[in-house]
Amino acid sequence: MTNADPVQGDIWKEKGYIMDGMGAAQKLIQNHVLKKEEYVTLLECASDRDVKKVLTDEAVRLRKIYYGDKVYTRGLIEFTNYCKNNCYYCGIRAGNRNVVRYRLTEEEILDCCREGYRLGFHTFVLQGGEDPYYTDEIMVELIRAIKAEFPDCALTLSIGEKSRESYRLFREAGADRYLLRHETANAEHYGSLHPAAMSLSDRKQCLYDLKELGYQAGAGFMVGSPGQTVEHMAEDLVFLQELQPQMVGIGPFIPHHDTIFAEEKAGSVEMTLFLLSVIRIMLPKVLLPATTALGTMDPQGREKGLKAGANVVMPNLSPVKNRKQYELYDNKICTGEEAAQCRGCLAGRVQRAGYCLVTDRGDAV
Ligand code: 5AD
Ligand code: FES
Repeated sequence: MTNADPVQGDIWKEKGYIMDGMGAAQKLIQNHVLKKEEYVTLLECASDRDVKKVLTDEAVRLRKIYYGDKVYTRGLIEFTNYCKNNCYYCGIRAGNRNVVRYRLTEEEILDCCREGYRLGFHTFVLQGGEDPYYTDEIMVELIRAIKAEFPDCALTLSIGEKSRESYRLFREAGADRYLLRHETANAEHYGSLHPAAMSLSDRKQCLYDLKELGYQAGAGFMVGSPGQTVEHMAEDLVFLQELQPQMVGIGPFIPHHDTIFAEEKAGSVEMTLFLLSVIRIMLPKVLLPATTALGTMDPQGREKGLKAGANVVMPNLSPVKNRKQYELYDNKICTGEEAAQCRGCLAGRVQRAGYCLVTDRGDAV
């Protein structure tokens, strides 16, 4: 892309900004970092074939240097779909009366881990809504029980915003990692996706607390969420640069029929793939999943994600009877009876994509 306005172009140049898409791509490859305006330029060229190719090639090259052909696997256990929050985009938000709610008992959760361990998993991700039923005491007990039975496994939590003290207790009990997407790094945009009771500054504080407490932390955002602009996505990238998370989860926004965003357009697979490559280049060692949302938008989405720089997959280990009930968005894959063995399905997919599913804990390098 060339800059149509020479005067504006000169001003940008004086400020040291590169205003050409290919120039921005090359600068990112050189420096692993861009200024916000340069990310905007880059993202505006997300459908330029040459720019896309340069970035994809570099993302794949970097991923190969640090991880070879390995793809790490995490067993996802969706253990409660109760949630006290009301995020406007989410199918299991508190206000949705049409959800049949469920909670797994400690024994049921342990059974999921046992099944997962048998299948070769060495990381379990406990994900749930923000469910007050699981008090700190209950969580600590659960974390201890899992770590006692599976001492060679990593335990990841994904249970939303908690106090620093709660995070500290969970960490002390043995939790290793924590996933908490920031969703959008623009405060105004955050406000349009969440009720007034939630704030971007709280979310960011949680992420900084988690990092400080020694968790391997994961942030991330939805691609194409309602009202999102390229400027917003550029701010997401700047925030990731600042936070330096060990993991980044991104996937396309997908409307859910029981939300105010039911009629909104879904995010694009192409833009998600482009961002996966950009993030791999920004943070070469990052653990980057090819997400279920990506696989929902495109039957080959996760494979395409791996080929764009992703190096993690997260098969579902939740009891099949509950899977449909953890419906964050419409048409979520892996929720039917046929998906009882996501592990086997994904192993085949990873292999056919030219990669190798590995079973070790896969800590950040
Ligand atoms: N579409 C895509 N992703 C969603 N999430 C929640 N709702 C949706 C949706 N409608 C994502 C959020 C959350 C993660 C668990 O799932 O980014 O952090
Ligand atoms: Fe779940 Fe393919 S990964 S069915």
